[in-house]
Parts: sequence; C-alpha cells; structure tokens
Amino acid sequence: AAGGPLTGRHVLVTSGPTHEPIDPVRYIANRSSGKQGHALASAAARAGARVTLVSGPVNLPAPPGVTVRPVESARDMLAAVEAALPADVAIFAAAVADWRAASEAPEKMKKDGGALPPLALTENPDILATIAHRTAGRPRLVIGFAAETQNVVAYAQAKRARKGCDWIVANDVSAQSGIPGGVMGGDSNQVHLITADGGEAWPPASKAEVAERLIARIAAALGERESE
Ligand code: C5P
Repeated sequence: AAGGPLTGRHVLVTSGPTHEPIDPVRYIANRSSGKQGHALASAAARAGARVTLVSGPVNLPAPPGVTVRPVESARDMLAAVEAALPADVAIFAAAVADWRAASEAPEKMKKDGGALPPLALTENPDILATIAHRTAGRPRLVIGFAAETQNVVAYAQAKRARKGCDWIVANDVSAQSGIPGGVMGGDSNQVHLITADGGEAWPPASKAEVAERLIARIAAALGERESE
C-alpha cells in the first residue's frame, strides 16, 4: 500500500524448495511448500515495499503486487538473488537443498541390468551466507530461517553467527512441535526470533500472522537505524 511503513524499500524474499537435477527427468527436492516465504512477500507488498520473490517450484499463486522470479536449482536461486540486488532487506525463507548431484546425466539414466547407478553428491552454495558476508551491496537487514528438530534456540544462535546474518527466525519442525499437522507444508508456525540482543518466543500463529509480525519488526528496525 502506498504510504505503508515499507514504502520506497526493496524487499527480496526467497521461498520454496529447490529442485536439483539428476538427469533430464529426475531431481532431488524437499517438502517445503513455500507458504511462509510467499506470506512474507505478500505482507511486505501490503506494507508498501517493492518486492522481488525468488521462488523454487511451488503450487502457490504469485502474491499480488510482487515480482516473482521462478527458479529450479540452488545455483539458479543464487544467480536470481544476485541479479535482484540491491535490496534494503533480504529474507531467506527458501528450503535450499544442501546437496546436488555432482554431475547431471545428459540423458535419462537407464535401468539396464544389475548395476545400480552411482549418485555422487556435491555441496550447494549457501545463498544466505554468501549475501550476508558481502562487503559491498549487502542489504541492511539480512534474515535467515532455521528449521530445527531439537535445541532450537541454541542451534539458531550458532547459525546466526556462522551465516553472518542479522536475524534468524527459528522454528521447530519436529513432530513434537505442538503444531497440528506439522510446520512443513502446514498453515501454522511457532517461531523464535533470534537477534543480536537474544531470542524471543512468539506465540503459535498462522504463517500469515508470523509474516505480518516479522514485516512490522523489519519496518521498525529500518526506521530506528535511519534516525541513528
Ligand atoms: O543451514 P540451514 O539450511 O539450516 O540454513 C537455513 C537458512 O539458510 C535459511 O534461511 C535458508 O534459506 C538459507 N540457506 C541458503 N542456501 C543454502 C542453505 C540454506 O540460503 N544452500
């Protein structure tokens, strides 16, 4: 909305899973739905920001007023993120595959006789860490997500330091999270916001509500830094 708290800001959001090709018909993926990332893009647009949403393959409509850059693999996602910079804020909500096939077979792999095909893996670039560690053109606020199944806050604090980001939004994706149906693919989330000042637990809420609250916090933080 014009006149919203993020008017004049460019917000970059990554969302969804990545698909890492094995051969022309097969890929490695994960269960990310993109719901939280898309909700963030939508909330940022409602707050008046110009929004670029770099999204892996998802079954979600493009949020109104948002520029979507569809990608498949982690390497495509990094390239699209770099092409979308500069941004005031970058929120990395995508569930990027940690590994990809070391080489992509040019033709469909055949089931011809006994031997199983080898599947060697190699590490993907860490998009969040790459952007957070940039010296030139780093967004003022770089925010990562952490999906953990145990010791959520401690692991998230360590991740914040390691990745070089400003904030981490940590959630418990274990079956014990207390979120009916689970966090991944579900409509609800219960998060901890980890900043340089420590951590705060937010109440369980819909992904849309978590997005609204995070966008409000972002607007407040940018406003504070401006008047320093
Ligand atoms: O290390 P981990 O995957 O738990 O970190 C999660 C955070 O890092 C998320 O914000 C995710 O979007 C980001 N990430 C990334 N590129 C990767 C792996 C994770 O941007 N290759």
